[in-house]
Amino acid sequence: MSIPYTQKVLDHFMHPHNVGKLENADAQATEGSPACGDMVKVYLKVNPSGYRIEDIKFESYGCASNIATGSIITDLAKNKTLEEAKQINWKTANDELGGLPPVKVHCAVLAVDALRTAIENYEHQHGLLKEQVPTTEDLIMKRLSRVINPLAGLDVVRTKLVRECKINNGQAVVFVEMPEDHQFAVNIKNEIIERIEPLWDIDGVNVIFRGE
Ligand code: FES
Repeated sequence: MSIPYTQKVLDHFMHPHNVGKLENADAQATEGSPACGDMVKVYLKVNPSGYRIEDIKFESYGCASNIATGSIITDLAKNKTLEEAKQINWKTANDELGGLPPVKVHCAVLAVDALRTAIENYEHQHGLLKEQVPTTEDLIMKRLSRVINPLAGLDVVRTKLVRECKINNGQAVVFVEMPEDHQFAVNIKNEIIERIEPLWDIDGVNVIFRGE
């Protein structure tokens, strides 16, 4: 049975706007979906006077709905202030696209989450947080629960690839239960660093592989 997409979803899927990598991005974020194992990445260029999004791009490793949502939300976020862009949610995207099939709502949520996390990362890195809550090991594990383990299509915490982390004087150490020469080790390491490094009180991230 084929999924009933609106013409607008199909247009954005076949000719997505703002696709690609933004070199010298001021902030970026990768989000993985626990529902399907897909991923999306959002890059931001922000003008620090007025905190307006000057440029935005996305890369999607997801389905048609995810690509269409990435396309529409990056269109909507461009030239908006960070505060305005934070108001964009999956319902906004859904309405703009003329409605997504209900089984595909999580794909829109994934794209919006990536935009929100990229904004949040920017805020962490530029002292814009309203409340500077100290990073705890629990918070790190929570952030890591959005990093997908490509072996399982589920997150690295749920699949017990990451069971433990430590924080010491602004240095985070994350232990990964996988050999260092595993084909996914570099990917996983980069994603862990990308997730934790932007936190306002973290100065460095050390990823230690200790699996057989
Ligand atoms: Fe994974 Fe749509 S099914 S992003």
